[in-house]
Amino acid sequence: MGTGVGFGKVILFNEHFVVYGLPAIVSAIGTKTTALVEKASGAATEMDDRRPETPGYKAEKLREQQESLQRMLKFMNIDTEHNRFKITLAGDLIAASGIGASAASCAAIARAFSEELGLNYSDEQVNQAAYEGEKGYHGTPSGIDNTAATYGGLIWYKRDGGSQIMDRMKLRAPVEIVMGNTGLVADTKIVVAGVRERREKAAEEYAQIFKNATELVQEARKELVALDLPRLGISMNKNHELLQQIGVSCDELDDLVKLARENGALGAKMTGTGRGGYMVALTPGQELQ
Ligand code: MEV
Repeated sequence: MGTGVGFGKVILFNEHFVVYGLPAIVSAIGTKTTALVEKASGAATEMDDRRPETPGYKAEKLREQQESLQRMLKFMNIDTEHNRFKITLAGDLIAASGIGASAASCAAIARAFSEELGLNYSDEQVNQAAYEGEKGYHGTPSGIDNTAATYGGLIWYKRDGGSQIMDRMKLRAPVEIVMGNTGLVADTKIVVAGVRERREKAAEEYAQIFKNATELVQEARKELVALDLPRLGISMNKNHELLQQIGVSCDELDDLVKLARENGALGAKMTGTGRGGYMVALTPGQELQ
């Protein structure tokens, strides 16, 4: 029997832009997905998905989940001809859009197979296998979600052609956030493809938005390290605006963002894929939380 975990994540700056090589900031969150892999005697590899979920999420993602698993099994060279496995997914991370649920499950599965089969995977190998699994869900993932799911912590992330730059950030004190779920399930492949289409049609306009996003995340990094929360909040608001401009927010997310700001959040934005999924608000102090 092998076990593994993968963290959920919150993208603090530049989801979507990160697909095009712009830097982004992501943090793992405290909730995790766990995977248990055991030898079984069934006809094929079997998945028992016991994760808590946003209603409808698991059914909607089932086909992608199967494609993801096949990709990972192939990538990890696992002999499913002569061996049968049962994979059980559980943990306290809600399977929902925007919170890195797919990446967390991929990292957990890679770790569990590594343990079960004595593969001794390093974090880097787990991350690579999880990246392969993410292709089943995202099509062309930037790799930010699986990186956060595998390594945890706070990460400055940038894709540079085929390679990835990952800079682990350290803060003097924790930064408190609230996340809000729209309850809507989004399809990352479709939302990412929509950005690509609109960007091709309005190249000049998008070049300016991308330039603004590049500058914003550099500033946000300094504000985060300096724990300048009022400025950081304003930067989150600006990031939300840029995400609205590339068409990945929606009324439900805009409403949650507005609600958080009206109730004292220093800043708020959608997080992750958008068009549903989660919002994140900067909310220092227990009372504000
Ligand atoms: C999804 O959590 C983040 C996106 O930027 C896609 C990706 O980076 O692969 C929307």
